[in-house]
Amino acid sequence: MTTKIYEPTEENIKRAAELIKSGETVAFPTETVYGLGANAYDAEAVKKIFAAKGRPADNPLIVHISDMEMLKGITSEVPEYAFRLADKFWPGPLTMIMPKSQKIPHVTSGGLDTVGVRFPSNPVAKELIRLSGLPIAAPSANSSGRPSPTNAGRVYEDMSGKIPAIIDGGECDIGLESTVIALSGNKVTVLRPGKVTAEMISEVLPEADVSVDEAVSKEVAKDAVVASPGMKYKHYAPKADVIILKGSREAYREYVRRHCGDGVFCLLYDESDSIDGVPYICWGSTHEEQAKKLFEVLREFDEKGAKRVYAMCPDTDGIGLAVYNRILRAAGFSVLEV
Ligand code: TXA
Ligand code: MG
Repeated sequence: MTTKIYEPTEENIKRAAELIKSGETVAFPTETVYGLGANAYDAEAVKKIFAAKGRPADNPLIVHISDMEMLKGITSEVPEYAFRLADKFWPGPLTMIMPKSQKIPHVTSGGLDTVGVRFPSNPVAKELIRLSGLPIAAPSANSSGRPSPTNAGRVYEDMSGKIPAIIDGGECDIGLESTVIALSGNKVTVLRPGKVTAEMISEVLPEADVSVDEAVSKEVAKDAVVASPGMKYKHYAPKADVIILKGSREAYREYVRRHCGDGVFCLLYDESDSIDGVPYICWGSTHEEQAKKLFEVLREFDEKGAKRVYAMCPDTDGIGLAVYNRILRAAGFSVLEV
């Protein structure tokens, strides 16, 4: 199969919507990362997503909508909290898990009776969903285990020959995937951190019991039952071993000086942190910059042939928790106190 890359013109988005309606897959931009979409109601179409990504069948897909009417079709019940959060955060980078309707096949929900729903804000994504008239199931458009793509070139790298079309909407605004939450009674649990933080959710729902699942910032046992199946899989891994160094900037530099060698690279906040003779990539010093660049930087390390990467550890306030959560997985949970 040849994979075509399309400019996001109205005509091309229409063409992509026709592909979705005919049971094909299409990669498209969202404000978080690129998604690989198919008709969420069509089990055969959704199977093509799993095949193109090499994704384990028990890892459920997020279903994307472009209006609140679509929500009714895919859920069997919408908690009151979901409406209040939707009012504030939709369209945007928040995914809410709700009981699924019969119409959503188990292939889409990874065998679960729930469905993760997201209303993206990216205009190309919204138009694609609207023109196809269907809810679109879409995981990130990377091969399973690779860093999520934040531009069309990276989608092409992983998906060339496996899908018919990619809509090129430029670089993604946020660069990290949506916040995923579970709702149950007065409890809201953050299963995957993102731009919408637990604090922001608490502000909208002051009476709710909002917490962050412990699997967000630590490794869970291999046989543990996790709330979000995606948590147990190795993620975002570049070929290099990534090691997060926790400590002051001086302690970081001292450690790297003592441990540098062939294939060793640094992931730094800023050029001024660099160490003579040790190659590096900077990913910025604000959380927003780090979020936007992380997945791109992880792929660049592969291209440069890095064997080991020492990463400066991001602190975890605001969207920093999302950055930490992703790099922790890229590092296979190796964190050293220095
Ligand atoms: O920003 C995003 O969310 C992007 C864009 C394309 O929208 N999508 C995305 O999808 O990141 P994916 O499949 O790469 O990650 C979805 C995560 C997985 O960890 C999955 O296990 C979890 O959400 N998830 C989805 N549906 C779920 C459900 N019903 N119950 C528990 N976890 C669910
Ligand atoms: Mg993903």
